[in-house]
Amino acid sequence: MSRSAHPAGPRHADVLPEGHYSAPATDLNELDPKVWSRTVTRDADGALTVGGIEVARLAQEFGTPAYFLDESDFRARCRAWADAFGTEADVFYAGKAFLSRAVVRWLKEEGLNLDVCSGGELATALDAGMPAERIAFHGNNKTVAEIERAVEAGVGRIVLDSFQEIARVSHIAQRLGIRQRVQIRVTVGVEAHTHEFIATAHEDQKFGIALADGQAAEAVRRALTLDGLELIGIHSHIGSQIFDMAGFEVSARRVVQLLAEIRDEHGVELPEIDLGGGLGIAYTSDDDPREPHEIAKALGDIVTRECESAGLRTPRISVEPGRAIVGPTAFTLYEVGTIKPLEGLRTYVSVDGGMSDNIRTALYDAEYSVALVSRSSEAAPMLVRVVGKHCESGDIVVKDAFLPADLAPGDLIAVPATGAYCRSMASNYNHALRPPVVAVRDGQARVIVRRETEEDLLRLDVG
Ligand code: LLP
Repeated sequence: MSRSAHPAGPRHADVLPEGHYSAPATDLNELDPKVWSRTVTRDADGALTVGGIEVARLAQEFGTPAYFLDESDFRARCRAWADAFGTEADVFYAGKAFLSRAVVRWLKEEGLNLDVCSGGELATALDAGMPAERIAFHGNNKTVAEIERAVEAGVGRIVLDSFQEIARVSHIAQRLGIRQRVQIRVTVGVEAHTHEFIATAHEDQKFGIALADGQAAEAVRRALTLDGLELIGIHSHIGSQIFDMAGFEVSARRVVQLLAEIRDEHGVELPEIDLGGGLGIAYTSDDDPREPHEIAKALGDIVTRECESAGLRTPRISVEPGRAIVGPTAFTLYEVGTIKPLEGLRTYVSVDGGMSDNIRTALYDAEYSVALVSRSSEAAPMLVRVVGKHCESGDIVVKDAFLPADLAPGDLIAVPATGAYCRSMASNYNHALRPPVVAVRDGQARVIVRRETEEDLLRLDVG
């Protein structure tokens, strides 16, 4: 959020915390298309609609809190990524951002592949009919059982993350009489400009095998000698919520250099490189994400150029966007409960969810925006902090935002861009019941992940 010395709205007191917050330049009723999914609009009465359905109706039918996912937007984003990368490249949707059987079916129909990183994600993918050869299996500590399941199912690739795993996967594949297609995940030494916990290509972390000290070259040496493995390429994922293409360019350059070294040492040109996911989305109007075609062009150009100068055939590129596909397609709908104005500070607006349905604010200091959606309002802006109902003062959903000063208990507010890493990281803290995910499309809404019930909680509690 922008901060300046401008006076704030009428319910703000003279002294504001951490500097002064300028009242928003735009009308609070306006919905910035950067942060809302494509079919979201306000109807003539000022209420928000998605897929042609008004939020009050959705709240009545499905309750709050709930995630509403704009299916046609999701599909359009899949197509935009697939079209941008074309037939010479592969797009793997990163299931960790949000996965359900319906999502798997949409991906299948829209021609995307799928990256899974656990037995649970693999089971969901297979159950919903994703062809195994279109699945990539990731993870820094895959269990033997998970590897066996993946190899048996015939996944298209396993991304190897350590020396131990190179030997383990080869052993399992040999035992099962299979030559498993694999990539080796390397850490290219790029410091991505993002939160420390979601940056993954600097060397001091748990993922991948470092390029810098020759470990990656050694991993390739070993993988090439093992009968259970068919080494098809090198993988690099540099982090998440990244806007600057420079990190990807450095990563691509270093991966191509490794391909050239492998060619020189082993006489083998590996046919594929995977540049991971991590492309940023707009959580607030201040964020300016890249379009898939710009990303595809930037990555394609750098790989082609580097390969030309190294005398290599251009490998097939793959990417693994999660957030950039699903993030913007959903919003979380909450009902406003307690409103607590703190004179001289800000107004705390409590909603019926919180850190159990969106941990990202507490965990990464993430920025979100929020809007009053059950009606429009001409009231002056008031500086708010949207908080949840959990027993924790860090239970913040939106740190700083403006809502109309006539906000009242019972109003519906929505936080956009919650499609990625909100339901997938949701918890039962305080025995909260995880909210449903409702897909909305062309005037129809259907639950794709149902709301948890107290029965669900008690069923697990077998003591
Ligand atoms: N590929 C690999 C190997 C990854 O580890 C990840 C994310 C992705 C692709 C997808 O990244 P995306 O395009 O969605 O940024 N919970 C954090 C994000 C953790 C991402 C972990 N890996 C968050 O809420 O921001």
